[in-house]
Amino acid sequence: MTKRVHIQARINGQEVDFLCEPGQSLLEVLRDELRLTGAKEGCNNGNCGACTVILDGRIVDACLVLAPEIDGHDVVTIEGIAEGERLHPLQQQFLEQAALQCGICTPGLIVAAKALLDRTPDPSEEEIRFWLAGNLCRCTGYDKIIRAVQAAARQMEARI
Ligand code: FES
Ligand code: FES
Repeated sequence: MTKRVHIQARINGQEVDFLCEPGQSLLEVLRDELRLTGAKEGCNNGNCGACTVILDGRIVDACLVLAPEIDGHDVVTIEGIAEGERLHPLQQQFLEQAALQCGICTPGLIVAAKALLDRTPDPSEEEIRFWLAGNLCRCTGYDKIIRAVQAAARQMEARI
């Protein structure tokens, strides 16, 4: 049995300590050890984006990151997107624009879109499509998703 590794990281604004196997993925640890099950396992090989999280401001596929790699780093998952009891504008607009169906892809899409709006508050449709190209949704068209991201951007701009 391999020796477990002690990891200290910041996840959704909270300092977190946990033990993991050296070869465990971040996705496995989030879901199985930390009970943060919002990031979904789709392909488990970096193709679908269902497991997208934000690591130090950059989107990553949690299935491709080893859990020990987050030691000392900052991770945001879908569980950290809402502002307390209030949904993030992206979550609200995905609901209002009916931009989701089965929901396997939705957490990853919202997390990826948040990272986009954090750096580009008013993205063009082309930028949104390009940015979300790594997030596959098999059961709906992408148009509603794009509209939801645009509406969230407008909503966030109106709040400022
Ligand atoms: S589960 Fe990670 S990219 Fe598909
Ligand atoms: S809503 Fe089903 S895969 Fe996206």
